[in-house]
This record gives sequence, C-alpha cells and structure tokens, in this order.
Amino acid sequence: MSKPILAFDIYGTLINVHGVVEQLQNMVGDQATLFSQTWRDKQLEYTFRRGLMQNYANFAICTRDALEYACQLLKQDLSTQQKQQLLDTYRTLPAFDDVEPTLQALKDSGIAMFGFSNGSADAVETLLQHAGIHDYFDGIVSVDDMKSFKPNPGVYSHFLRQAKAQLESQGDGQATHVGGQNAWLISSNSFDVIGAISAGMRAAWVKRSPDAVFDPWGIEPTAQIHNLTELKKALEQTL
Ligand code: 2OP
Repeated sequence: MSKPILAFDIYGTLINVHGVVEQLQNMVGDQATLFSQTWRDKQLEYTFRRGLMQNYANFAICTRDALEYACQLLKQDLSTQQKQQLLDTYRTLPAFDDVEPTLQALKDSGIAMFGFSNGSADAVETLLQHAGIHDYFDGIVSVDDMKSFKPNPGVYSHFLRQAKAQLESQGDGQATHVGGQNAWLISSNSFDVIGAISAGMRAAWVKRSPDAVFDPWGIEPTAQIHNLTELKKALEQTL
C-alpha cells in the first residue's frame, strides 16, 4: 500500500473557529459562546444552501452574511466597525495546539499533506501563514475552483485531481497513486467526513469535543480520533 495523501479540513479541524470568543466577550458579553456557535452554524448552513441552489458566493460572503444573521437573531446591534473587526479576526484565527506537532511528525514520515477547504485559497494561505504552519503543506485545494461547497461530491473529486497534479508538478512519485484508497480527509466536521467517504475517499473524524455527535447515517468514518496527536497511529493501524 502506498503512503497516504492527507487532505486536512481547515475551519474547525486545524483552525479554531471559536477563537473569536474572547473578542466577542467584549462586544456581546455572556452571549459570546452562543453568538460564536450561531455564527458558525449559520455559515455552514449558507454553504449547504448555496450549493443546493447553485447560487455560489464564496465562503467569506457566507461568513459575512452569517455574522449579520447572528447579530439579528441575538439582537446584538454591533457597529460596522465591530463587525469588520470580527471578520478581520476570522482571517487570522488560531490553530489548535495539537496541529503543529502532528504536522511535524507526519512531515518527518514523508507523508504528503494538503489543506482542503470551503475557504478560498488566499484566505486559507493567510490563516496557515499566520498560524506558522503553512510550510508543512504540499498545497492548498479550495472548493472555490468548483464554485460549490462540501459535501458536493465534485469537490472531493476536485481534491483528488488537484493533489495529483500538484504532487506531479513537484516531481513526487506518490502523485501517480492519488486515489480513493490512499487519499484521506481529516476533519472534525462529520458532514465533511460523510461527504468524503461517499465520494470514495477514506476519512478520519476528529472528535474534538466529547459532546460532538457523528451524524447517524449508517456511514462510519474509516478512523475516529479525539485529537490530531492520535492521527499518525490511526493511519498506521488502518493501512
Ligand atoms: C472547511 O472546509 C468545512 O469549514 C470547513 O474548512
């Protein structure tokens, strides 16, 4: 079996989308956690709906519109400047603590790694640069190229094609082996894991919170881990 090729989901898996909570506390007080969760849930809902409606607007627009929704739902009359501050923070959210050691260990093993996200390539580049983890990756693949969102099966196929092309252009011998059997999505988002498996990839679900529920659709992740430090072992056990 050839080495795995890893597609890391970005928002929620490598990058903590609730890294805005501290800033929100100064704006909405006790509602900060609820506000952050509402914002995130609505952001994803907007991607799903835009995908179904075939009415694409990029992830930054879904994020902006979802912020507006959260303000209205929770009756928080934030100023234009406050909203802009939150959106600016969203471009520089922090990585989780387990990310860098895991990427280092996988890189040392010669495993090819990509960022694979609903976010546009430039937004993902900025996040990874800011978190100091950009150079671990062989490339970034964004759904933006497809003008659709996860879990459209087309975006996972796009990942496979792009990963192969990018590795080939780097002269990597693994490039010819990029396929469902060795291409893994690594994601804390259960809809993303189910999408990848349905599209023929393997997938590890990162159950970052003890309260996280994997959608009970009868489709199981190839591996389940609690944090990224367990990833390398899980891959070794499955290969
Ligand atoms: C991402 O694609 C799903 O938000 C998640 O980065």
